Amino acid sequence: MNFTNKVVLVTGTASGIGTATAVRFSELGAKLAIVDLSAEGLKTTAKNCIKCAKSKDQGEPLQIVGDVSKPEDLECIAKSTLKKYKQLDVLVNNAGIMEDGTIETTCLEQFDRMIHTNLRSQFYLSLILVPELLKTKGNIVNTSSICGMRSFPNTLAYNISKAGVDHFTRCVALELGDRGLRCNCVNPGVIYTNLQKRYLDENGYKEFLKKSKYTHALERYGQPIEVANVICFLASDLASFITGHNIPVDGGRHAMTPR
Ligand code: NAI
Repeated sequence: MNFTNKVVLVTGTASGIGTATAVRFSELGAKLAIVDLSAEGLKTTAKNCIKCAKSKDQGEPLQIVGDVSKPEDLECIAKSTLKKYKQLDVLVNNAGIMEDGTIETTCLEQFDRMIHTNLRSQFYLSLILVPELLKTKGNIVNTSSICGMRSFPNTLAYNISKAGVDHFTRCVALELGDRGLRCNCVNPGVIYTNLQKRYLDENGYKEFLKKSKYTHALERYGQPIEVANVICFLASDLASFITGHNIPVDGGRHAMTPR
């Protein structure tokens, strides 16, 4: 895989899968724009990208502090990326949040927060940047979840937001395939990041991780780099005949029945 002279924009890059993806793209030669709520986290990711870069010509990643749930921030993210690089080859819509809640306990505000952060952000940033991606015959990779393909109890709004990402991915692929633009998504199983730590306490998270032994065919949870590798593959020319696909990166979780 080679991303020399390619410009890649990745959201949610201060932590977890986004960090690993930005670093992997940097190793593969890409020029990067990285986005997150956390300025500190972006600084650390940028340093790691520079350390791992394939060539000095890639320069320092453009760090954009922004909230993907806000349309005006998404407009700024697109504008500043194009101002610096004048082109875009790959958009990775990765930023996301997870909160618990059932049909009886999820309030409207929480539902909106999940949809706006996980789904509407992907729709709107793609909408703004599709004209640029069409110029470069580029592609989009969205981060969904195994929760988009299967429903799990007590994460209702999250599940729905990710099912939306899966369908959004197929719709974009269908609409833009004739003009050479591909769109795919990855559907991770449990990955060791900060996602669940934000709503589970330390013991709760330990128990949650332990369960991966029974919920994943490979009997373990995954690491961010295992998802990053698939994102880079989908964005690369090696995946030139793949579009509209939802790819589980989940240690076989999608195939499991509870044991
Ligand atoms: P993480 O919490 O480690 O990283 C997410 C990053 O997104 C953080 O740096 C956070 O600051 C940023 N972010 C959150 N809301 C944002 C907003 N409104 N604007 C800008 N940045 C924002 O989590 P992780 O696991 O790396 O999550 C990345 C993606 O992977 C998410 O879309 C998540 O739903 C998905 N995913 C993760 C799984 C896991 O088990 N960790 C499983 C399936 C999907």
